[in-house]
Amino acid sequence: MGKYHDVHAASLSDPEKFWLDAAQAVTWSRAPERALDDGNPPFYRWFPDGRLNTCYNALDRHVAAGHGDRTALIYDSPVTGNAARYTYAELLDEVARFAGVLRDLGVGKGDRVVIYMPMVPQTVVAMLACARLGAIHSVVFGGFAAKELTARIDDAAPKVLICASCGIEPTRVVPYKPIVDEAIAASARPPEKVIVLQRERLRAEMGERDLDWDELMAGAQPAPCVDLAATDPLYILYTSGTTGKPKGVVRDNGGHAVALSWSMAGIYGIGPGDVWWAASDVGWVVGHSYIVYAPLLVGATTVLYEGKPVGTPDAGAFWRVISQYGVKALFTAPTALRAIKKVDPDGREIAKYDLSGFRTLFLAGERLDPETYHWASAKLNVPVVDHWWQTETGWAVAANPVGVELLPIKPGSPTLPMPGYDVRVLGPDGAEVPRGTEGAICIRLPMPPGTLLTLWGDDQRYVESYLSRYPGFYLTGDSGYLDEDGYVYVMGRTDDIINVAGHRLSTGAMEAALAAHPAVAECAVIGVSDPLKGQVPKGFVVLKSGVEIDPDRLRDELIARVRQDIGAVAAFKEVVVVDALPKTRSGKILRKAMREIAAGKDIPVPSTIEDPAVLDRLRPLLRGRDA
Ligand code: COA
Ligand code: AMP
Repeated sequence: MGKYHDVHAASLSDPEKFWLDAAQAVTWSRAPERALDDGNPPFYRWFPDGRLNTCYNALDRHVAAGHGDRTALIYDSPVTGNAARYTYAELLDEVARFAGVLRDLGVGKGDRVVIYMPMVPQTVVAMLACARLGAIHSVVFGGFAAKELTARIDDAAPKVLICASCGIEPTRVVPYKPIVDEAIAASARPPEKVIVLQRERLRAEMGERDLDWDELMAGAQPAPCVDLAATDPLYILYTSGTTGKPKGVVRDNGGHAVALSWSMAGIYGIGPGDVWWAASDVGWVVGHSYIVYAPLLVGATTVLYEGKPVGTPDAGAFWRVISQYGVKALFTAPTALRAIKKVDPDGREIAKYDLSGFRTLFLAGERLDPETYHWASAKLNVPVVDHWWQTETGWAVAANPVGVELLPIKPGSPTLPMPGYDVRVLGPDGAEVPRGTEGAICIRLPMPPGTLLTLWGDDQRYVESYLSRYPGFYLTGDSGYLDEDGYVYVMGRTDDIINVAGHRLSTGAMEAALAAHPAVAECAVIGVSDPLKGQVPKGFVVLKSGVEIDPDRLRDELIARVRQDIGAVAAFKEVVVVDALPKTRSGKILRKAMREIAAGKDIPVPSTIEDPAVLDRLRPLLRGRDA
């Protein structure tokens, strides 16, 4: 590969050639002759005449090429004390047989399958089995509560739901099956069948529509790969939008396989036989792209870790995994490092392990604060690479492409745009702002392969959410600037999305939970900065007039509501009662001003405000947790 600037320039000046070249990393049943189909803007499709199967590319072809004995997946689970290895041949066997199970249940091309599972190998098996059949999987993160699961079931209308009996958190076992039962009972479009993986720690009670994973697998016959168009959907992944209703990001097969293969070599410098670890969760986009698909597409070994950075059992867990399996590169969220640093600031645990094979640390999911960057660089003595992307893009928009060349690192910046991404910072009038000036970070259309096709069943919402604000551009929802060298700086979201411990959440959904409390007249939820989790949500509620309620009781009830409706992962623990919320003269709550003050910005009082004194009273409460 050439140097970064040549690569990026080539991708923008001749995308056809660039992506058709990149497409050679994939095995096609019909090789594409065209890269981009731009016949129906703003809907772009990649490799319109190509045909392939993603599961074939992730598994079968490696076995066919004689690499069946190579390790595909290492499962390491400190929360259960289990560990296992699957070769490519073994993983293929499991996946083909589970695809046979799904096929026998009537699942075929285009059918949806919801997967609500913890970090166990069967989750990967289920995803790849769907890909094998051309069924569209939708994985729901295990930390979400029943209501969130119902919203996803109702939108995707799955034929089958696959779950485990429980998830295992360090301090408690989370029973999944009652959550699934509750979600299905509330669903308008429930699945016909539920496949349950029984885990020994907590077995689930089975009902009429439930089937046992192990029993089904005992008699399963393998199913072959179904030949698919490159443009057929591979999966739907729901992500938080600005309203309570999640957005179903749709990914294709061909563009996804090509982009992820390029990224694995070009960004992460990982190839066949390398051991790679993305310490995230399969329920998030990082898990989809970099625990499951990308490492297997390139024939690497992926680590699936069911544990935490600290407490399972100690702050040396990450370094133990790296040394035990010879991990070459780790991808995690800055929060995980902050958690480790808090327990082990001097890096004593790091010194206990042989990290000589470890080459690079990649971080994403939230802003990398310079302190964490410097700590990790000094303690690990490897390049610490920040990169920036989103569920929607599926792979990095901006990164330091270690596989192409390691560019100079500027702490605070995720470096430069990746191939096919033409990143521009626009002002309110739609014009590009000068270098160094903050504005809306946008990507000129078309975006590269691997990015979202649309939102499931809702082309209009796709266009309205992302493509309408600045015609011809994709709106990332992040604010930031480019410096004189074109380095990207991401400062924060411009909408009602917050990032809690690398988990993307909607404050709108939390507001809906609070507003449903009988004592609450109105409310706003804002992300405030937190030294460990980056951001945590904080609620501001105004009570209905005449309501008398014990403040501690109210607080507990409000916290319980968010936990019940959204899930523990929301980490909603702070709520204050205020006498009023800042509003415009037409009665709209000035959330943006609240957000900006919470982010530490010194903003002028908005000209549309009805009563400036209300905002002034709120200022100290918005600035951080203990203010
Ligand atoms: N299933 C069920 N519950 C879950 C869950 C899951 N998969 N994941 C998290 N939760 C629960 C936790 O048990 C916790 O519950 P509690 O309030 O009863 O303690 C709550 O959700 C909040 O979890 P979390 O945000 O993970 O906080 P934590 O205090 O348990 O751990 C960190 C803090 C920093 C160790 C943890 O957030 C972490 O490892 N972060 C890395 C983030 C990451 O990988 N992000 C993916 C994007 S790259
Ligand atoms: P998600 O869709 O969960 O991946 O979250 C995407 C959002 O996380 C982005 O829009 C950003 O707001 C934030 N984010 C992800 N990576 C970074 C990063 N490296 N620096 C700053 N913010 C980031």
